Amino acid sequence: MLDTPDVLRRTGGKPVKSIVFSEATIAAKVAELGAAITAAYPDGELLVLGLLKGSFIFLSDLVRTIERPVQVDFLVASSYGSEKVSSGTVRLLYDPETRLKGKHILLVEDIIDTGRTLRRLMALLGERQPRSLAICALLDKRIAADPPAELRFVGFDAPPAFLVGYGLDHAENYRHLPFIADLE
Ligand code: IMP
Ligand code: MG
Repeated sequence: MLDTPDVLRRTGGKPVKSIVFSEATIAAKVAELGAAITAAYPDGELLVLGLLKGSFIFLSDLVRTIERPVQVDFLVASSYGSEKVSSGTVRLLYDPETRLKGKHILLVEDIIDTGRTLRRLMALLGERQPRSLAICALLDKRIAADPPAELRFVGFDAPPAFLVGYGLDHAENYRHLPFIADLE
């Protein structure tokens, strides 16, 4: 159990179980991903698309490690009526204003769990005729039976725990923690 004053001030007095990835560990990994992304796109326009809300901190750190021109936009997706309808509909609540046609699209996601939402999103974005379509995820739980083919850049394998911090939430809390913790 982790209940240092530094943690408790941020959580309102609730301890977390443990820190899974520290600030320094995350920063080193983000720099590695940025270098890999820089190398992977030698030419063409690159649009980094952050999937809100979970990716907001990761994306803001990541784009600062990419040493080539980039554009940044966001999208907000909702698995519309997913409990009632098994049709696999994904609805965009916020659709990027930037044109996708002819650009390299790099979708940035916080964590891949089943990968279901992402697979549907890929189909939807693919219709906009991008030059290429790839996913960068900070964390992958590696439980997806059929992970999206576009998953090209992965930071860490995540343990089978409920993680919070660095953008990841539990009921909208804990996103602001500078590290990634197991909430338990
Ligand atoms: P998927 O569609 O099943 O891959 O779900 C991925 C989404 O579930 C992520 O974008 C997160 O918002 C959320 N999620 C999955 N695992 C965790 C976790 O451990 N902590 C916080 N959110 C999670
Ligand atoms: Mg979430």
